Amino acid sequence: MGASQQEQGPLRVALLGCGVVGSEVARLLTQQSADLASRVGAPLELVGIAVRDASAPRPLAESVDRSLLTEDAEGLVTRADIVIEVMGGIEPARSLLLRAIEAGAAVVTANKALLAEDGPTLYKAADTAGVDIYFEAAVAGAIPIVRPVRESLAGDHVRRILGIVNGTTNYVLDQMASTGMSFDDAVKQAQDLGYAEADPTADVEGFDAAAKAAILASLAFHTRVSLEDVAREGITAITADDVAWAAQTGHVIKLLAIAEAVTGDDGAHGVSVRVHPALVPLTHPLAGVRGAFNAVFVEADAAGELMFYGRGAGGSPTASAVLGDVVSAARHRVLGGKGPEESIYAALPILPASTAVTRYQVRLAVDDRPGVLAQVAQVLASKGVSIEAVRQPSEPSDGTQGDGPTGVAHLVITTHAAAEAALAATVDAIAVLEPVREITSVLRVEGA
Ligand code: NDP
Ligand code: HSE
Repeated sequence: MGASQQEQGPLRVALLGCGVVGSEVARLLTQQSADLASRVGAPLELVGIAVRDASAPRPLAESVDRSLLTEDAEGLVTRADIVIEVMGGIEPARSLLLRAIEAGAAVVTANKALLAEDGPTLYKAADTAGVDIYFEAAVAGAIPIVRPVRESLAGDHVRRILGIVNGTTNYVLDQMASTGMSFDDAVKQAQDLGYAEADPTADVEGFDAAAKAAILASLAFHTRVSLEDVAREGITAITADDVAWAAQTGHVIKLLAIAEAVTGDDGAHGVSVRVHPALVPLTHPLAGVRGAFNAVFVEADAAGELMFYGRGAGGSPTASAVLGDVVSAARHRVLGGKGPEESIYAALPILPASTAVTRYQVRLAVDDRPGVLAQVAQVLASKGVSIEAVRQPSEPSDGTQGDGPTGVAHLVITTHAAAEAALAATVDAIAVLEPVREITSVLRVEGA
């Protein structure tokens, strides 16, 4: 039973990290202290901020009281009611959170890498200690998605989640598509704007999205899904040409995190979790997600289709989600009660990404002469892959016209849903046809 509001003294809040996110958390905790106290029923007192180097200049944290900075994170976590971890990385973040939980503190973290790698250890420790662990900011920044999937949809059956959950890659792909900017320049801009991870490899190679996919899949399917369970492909192989062709065929390229219920060859039900670039039709709501914005599209049996949209990265948006969790945890301290525990009763098998059946778009350069299309179509038919559409755009993406019977034609073949193995066999067989000069790209089409 919590103490009444009148009896309740300040709740001590410790902050681990004062970077892009931490400095905004500290600012909001300070500037909104009166509102937060009213919402919680007790003042929140920021008792310390752990950093690596307390003497370093902090241009992002000008409003932060420097006397709160400490290099003694270990000591800080044992003198707090609520510990907020926004330092990132696996260690020492994991040990500090476990230490905080052991000392009886509720914990709030934005650290998707840690949760995807070793969340169960933290969830178990929190359950054992009877304290809250919240992590709304770990997936899609400011967007409320963890709470809706974990709590609001707890009475439904989620069938599929399609998410744009990495702001950096969405920004990069959007800049490439809308301004023709190079991949490297767009990544640099995303870093300057505070969207990218310290090492942007985590963004562009899909690790960050994969960690978020693992967290969402675990919650949606009541099954433990870790980073190793997620099939991952980043956006580094996407070229300006791919982006231009996507537009020509009525699509946009997005890095998608996908978690869906699938049925294996033996009829067993399971979950497939994957991250890869995909063509999204311009008519799909995810196609309109621009810049560093994120969106998560959820398909559930009873609820139908839902879309959650907003800022998925950046200090202030992420701090908003962190503060929401802090208020929830703090209310439990004041009023009693506890947030949800890990739910893994379904324990579904994680099936390979190849179990998922999707549409594909295959782009190829062929000799521009009679009968070539028929040869290609024959291969698709022989492999049981059904063609939805074939386009032979009159103007290739390099702006040159096809030059007649001896020139090159570009074919864009969109298939109906096909198994990955059948598609791969088809592509291999097409590649060795005599008139085929090059298979230029093979991309999945999602969200149709
Ligand atoms: P930053 O790199 O900007 O900040 C990290 C902070 O943690 C710094 O203040 C750093 O101290 C401190 N820190 C790091 N290691 C240690 C350590 N060993 N001991 C003490 N302090 C340490 O990271 P972000 O703010 O961008 O990200 C923080 C977390 O939030 C990450 O888990 C990230 O994935 C997550 N996140 C980030 C988002 C974003 O848009 N940036 C969005 C959603 C989640 P010092 O300043 O002295 O170096
Ligand atoms: N680097 C991440 C992104 C930050 O670009 O989305 C949010 O997790």
